[in-house]
This record gives sequence, C-alpha cells and structure tokens, in this order.
Amino acid sequence: MNTLIFLFLLFFFFFFLNAVSSFDFPNRFSKSLISSLDNKPSSKSNEYLELTVPLPSDRLTPSCTLPILRHSFGNTINGPPFSTPYSPPSDCPSPWSFVVVEFRAKCKGEQYDRISALWLGGAEILRTSTAEPTKKGIHWKVRKDVTRYSSILSRKDLNLTVMLENVVNKEFTGVYHVEVDFQYYKVNAIEIRAPFSVGDRNKSGELGFIRQKSSDLDANLGVSEEEPADMIIPVSDSGERGFWFRSESELDLHTVEIRFPKNTRRAVLELYVSYHGNDEFWYSNPPNSYVIVNNLETPRANGAYREVFVTIDGELVGSEVPFPVIFTGGVNPLFWEPVVAIGAFRLPTYDLEVTPFLGKLLDNKPHQLAIGVSEGISYWLVNANLHLWLDHKSPSVVAQSSIYNRNPLLEIEHESQFRKLDGSFKIKAERTIRYTGWVQWSGGNHTTTISQRYKFKNTIGFKNDGDYKSVKQNIKASRELKVLNDRGQVIMSTSSRRKYPLRVISAKLPGSRKDTYMLITNVSHSLSEKSVNGGFKTRLYNGQDSDGWMEVKGHSVVSGYAQTLQRISYRDVFGCYSRSVSANNGKLVGDNTTFGCLSLSSM
Ligand SMILES: *[C@@H]1O[C@H](CO)[C@@H](O)[C@H](O)[C@H]1NC(C)=O
Ligand SMILES: *[C@@H]1O[C@H](CO)[C@@H](O)[C@H](O)[C@H]1NC(C)=O
Ligand SMILES: *[C@@H]1O[C@H](CO)[C@@H](O)[C@H](O)[C@H]1NC(C)=O
Ligand SMILES: *[C@@H]1O[C@H](CO)[C@@H](O)[C@H](O)[C@H]1NC(C)=O
Ligand SMILES: *[C@@H]1O[C@H](CO)[C@@H](O)[C@H](O)[C@H]1NC(C)=O
Repeated sequence: MNTLIFLFLLFFFFFFLNAVSSFDFPNRFSKSLISSLDNKPSSKSNEYLELTVPLPSDRLTPSCTLPILRHSFGNTINGPPFSTPYSPPSDCPSPWSFVVVEFRAKCKGEQYDRISALWLGGAEILRTSTAEPTKKGIHWKVRKDVTRYSSILSRKDLNLTVMLENVVNKEFTGVYHVEVDFQYYKVNAIEIRAPFSVGDRNKSGELGFIRQKSSDLDANLGVSEEEPADMIIPVSDSGERGFWFRSESELDLHTVEIRFPKNTRRAVLELYVSYHGNDEFWYSNPPNSYVIVNNLETPRANGAYREVFVTIDGELVGSEVPFPVIFTGGVNPLFWEPVVAIGAFRLPTYDLEVTPFLGKLLDNKPHQLAIGVSEGISYWLVNANLHLWLDHKSPSVVAQSSIYNRNPLLEIEHESQFRKLDGSFKIKAERTIRYTGWVQWSGGNHTTTISQRYKFKNTIGFKNDGDYKSVKQNIKASRELKVLNDRGQVIMSTSSRRKYPLRVISAKLPGSRKDTYMLITNVSHSLSEKSVNGGFKTRLYNGQDSDGWMEVKGHSVVSGYAQTLQRISYRDVFGCYSRSVSANNGKLVGDNTTFGCLSLSSM
C-alpha cells in the first residue's frame, strides 16, 4: 500500500513538474493560495460582472417572475445534472414581449472556474462559466434575453436542467449556490415607445435597446427581425451527463436524426460551444511536431486551428471559428476580478441559416444532422438548437435547393520553424460558403441566399528557450442573408462583419522561492461587430486589455498584480451606449457610462 502511495506521489511530482513548463502557457490557475487582491478586512462579498450591452428589459418591471431553481452545486463531478420541473406561470400566459433568464450565483472559499449550462426541455438556453471565488466570497448575476425560445417557454411539464460540474474537497472548498428566475414581460408597444417620442433623455438608454422588438414597434421600419420560431428541436445528447455532446477529437462526430415538418419555411441552427481541458487555450497550441521533436509531455498540441462545423446528410451547411472566451482561471486569474473576460458569463452562440437546404429536407424522412470540431482535441462541449418557422396556412410547402459550391473547401496554410524550444508557427485559413434555395409557401415564393466567409490567422512565437510565448490571432467573419420574393424584390436583408483579435503574452521568470515561478502576462482581445439589418445599422465594440504578473506555486497564484481596462460601445438607430471600466488589483477603480452618441468616432 505504502509503495503504491509512494509511486503515486512520485508520478504526481513528476507530472506536476512537467505540467507547468513554459510551453504550457497560457494555462488555468486557481487563486487558492492568495486571498484575492481585494482582501481588506472590511470588504464584503465582492460583486463580479461581465460588461454587456443592457437588455431592453433591464429597466422594465417584469409582469411576472418565476423563481424556478435554488440549488447548491457542491461535489457534483461525475454526477447527473440537476433538474427541476417547469411550467409557465398561469397568471402570465404567452405571448410575451420579452422573457429573460436571470442566473445568480454566490461562492466562497477556493475553487476553479467551472462550466455550466441550462437546458429547457433539452434545448440549451444559456452557456455560462463561474467566477473563481475568494475567501470573503463573491457573487454575480447574468441576465440573458431568451425570448427566441418562446415556443419552448410556453410549454408545460418540462424540466429545467442545469449542469455545473464542481469538485469540493479539502483543498477546493467553494460550493456554487445558484438561483435561476424566469422573468416574463408583457409590454405594449405604445408604452415602450412613449418616453422615446417625448424625448425623455433620461430614459433614452433603455429605449436604445428595444431594437429586437422594433418590428413590433413599427412595421414600416423594415427591420426584418423575425418573431420567435414556431418550434425548436434540440440537437443534443440524451441528458444523463447534461445534454451537451463531449467532443474528444475531430473524429467525434455527434449525429442526431431529425424529421423536418413538411411545412417548414425557414430553419436556423443555433450553435453552443465551449472548449476545455487540452483545448481550453486551443489558439495557443503548438503543432505536434514541436511537441514530439522537443520530447515534451504536454497534451496541449495539434496546432491552433479549430472550426466547429455542422453537416446535414454529410454535406457541410456551415461552420464557425468560435470567439476565444477566456474563463476566470485563464492566463492570469487576477485579470478577471471583478470584471470577467468577454463572454465568460454569457458565452456567444452562433446562428447558421439552414433555409437554403430545405429543398432536401422536407420529404418526411429522417435526416442526419451532425456537429464536429475540425482539428479538435479533448475536449469540446457542443450542442445546438434547430429553430423552425412553419407555414401556418398550409400543411406542406415546396422547396428546392441550388447549392453552388458543395462542401466548400477550407484553404489552410501552415508555416512552422523552430530550433529546440524557440520558434514560430503560423496558420492562415479561409473559407467561403454560398448557398441558395427557394421555398414556395402561403407567403409567396421566397428565395434565400446566404454567403459566409471568414479569414483566420494565428501566429505563436517562443523565445528564451520557450520561456517567452506570444499568441497573436485574428478572426474576421462576414455573413450575408438575402431573401427575395416572386418579383425579385428584397424582402429581407441582413449582413454582419465581425472581428475577434486576440493577443496573449506570457513570460516565465524564476520565482522568489525554489518552488515558485513568476509569470508576466498580457492579454488584449476584443469583439467588434458591424451589422446592417434591413438598412439599419448596428455597431458593437467590446475590448479588454489586461496586464500584470503573478507568482505561482503549482497551479495556484501566491501573489501578483493585475490591471484590466475595458470599453464597450454600442450604437443602433435608437441611440448609443458606452461604458468603460478599469479594475486594479481586484477592485473597480473607474466606471463611466454614457448614453450619448458622442464617442462614435472611436468606434
Ligand atoms: C424530469 O426529470 C426527472 C428527474 O430527472 C425525470 O424523472 C422526468 O422524467 C423528467 N421529465 C421530463 C418531462 O423530461
Ligand atoms: C433619471 O430618472 C431617475 C428616476 O426616474 C432619477 O433618479 C435620475 O436622477 C435621473 N437621471 C438623470 C441623469 O436625470
Ligand atoms: C420560385 O422562384 C425561383 C426563383 O425565381 C424559381 O426558380 C422557381 O421556379 C419558383 N418556384 C415556383 C414553384 O414557382
Ligand atoms: C504588457 O503590457 C504592458 C502595458 O500594455 C507593457 O508595458 C508590457 O511591455 C507588456 N509586457 C510584455 C511582456 O509584452
Ligand atoms: C472616467 O471619466 C473620468 C473623467 O472623464 C476619466 O478621468 C477616467 O479615466 C474615466 N475612467 C474610465 C475607466 O474610463
């Protein structure tokens, strides 16, 4: 028995030494040996936040609130998800103007960041991650507009299912106490609009963000946002370990059989993705050749290109290089208190328009819908929701697809050069997709064309025997959707251009003690989007710059310094919003919000 323990310790020690070598940065750390930077005796539970554009409903009073879940996630690892029955409140039936899910969490002690998801009737409605707690305790709140899931929210006798795999033991003591509410809003259009038309400046902030319902406000605006889908089909797993598929390699193709209703006139697939384990920092993974030639122990390799793709009956319908979300233990956990990284509390989702394929799908036969991760290694959590709009006046519609470039090729170039642990690795990738199809339904004969294009560039550099590592990544994605009627007139047109640049630097230096090391870390990333919807423009910029250092023992931060600056700005036809914050050593030291459209030049 003792020999076993000794061998285990030896193995652990050996593994541990190898696990923290410099080529393994960025990495995931816990704050368990530091009592957070904000450790004044007076400080209470600290509020964490993610900077986001306010929701239209943020300052309205819900017509009713359903407190659906109160649960503590302790040592939940390897267990089933937590489920609780759901039915919409009887005093507040659908249709609703908005529905919001509010997720609140509290945690105290020592803990890593954890991934979590909420599913209603098996369809995912929120992917979120937790903040790493402190000894004093932290709390936060996430609000997400879930109006688009109205067809599920209005159903009775469903389960709300939450997965939050946590480990609680002697070292990691943080239990996540979670509360989830659904808030239902019934607002009449006049009520929403009135303050705006009388020019009440004070309220213009909340009014600026009614755009999602602007088609309700004034049909003449020509804004082509659709009403929520009539039906949502989950493209997900059976649910024993959460409804997400766990993708361990690129050979892991997760397939679901779906029969499309014969009167489907529009279909959109909404993808949910997150990356963990050896692929948590996929954008920083060197190629296998570097790892093999240098005889490294790290499993974090396979290069830095990843693409989540969807096929129907083996044909590519769309793909996405995801926005690189950094969880709160990532790179340097001190960067993310109290302002977490972009998307950490509300992971982005990606919509793929499937309508041009309907011509192949309305034959009442089962079709194979599959999700996979190109070049992915262990592990990704992926699933999707298929949103379907039906022709209410007809039991069937006629459709035909004309797919121009079937299975469009990915153009990808790799360039590697290294000597021992120093070198540089470049990847360039590009894909263009263009599909057309028409659907003849009671609303007319509508021809839908989608074009999608993205460019990906990634450079990883190692210097100083691998102790200095830099990652530079640029993703540019553009997307266009056009719908024409029988007479060739444009009845819907949306386009968007997105950019996600990311820079990560980590430099390793000796620590002040034998068993510690120093890491100097910098992260700079942003998400910007310009979109045009029926002639109306929307712009979003959200950027974060962090720099600092930390002294690390194993995977725990012992001491450090961090500062983060963030600016989010948003503009649409109704107005502008911008907020800049600056956080220093765990405290918010600056926080300015404006609703005016003054700082547009910088967008
Ligand atoms: C809800 O979850 C419970 C417990 O996991 C299960 O027994 C029940 O069948 C589920 N109900 C539905 C409608 O899925
Ligand atoms: C806006 O209105 C609220 C209450 O209606 C008031 O407390 C606040 O001071 C006003 N803000 C400005 C900038 O006028
Ligand atoms: C629908 O419109 C397309 C494009 O104009 C045309 O090719 C197709 O024949 C039309 N379908 C029907 C049923 O009229
Ligand atoms: C990190 O960022 C700071 C401030 O932007 C800069 O002064 C410093 O040189 C950067 N560190 C590295 C290692 O690049
Ligand atoms: C907030 O505004 C003040 C005054 O204009 C400025 O000095 C400060 O740098 C701003 N803070 C942030 C985080 O933008």
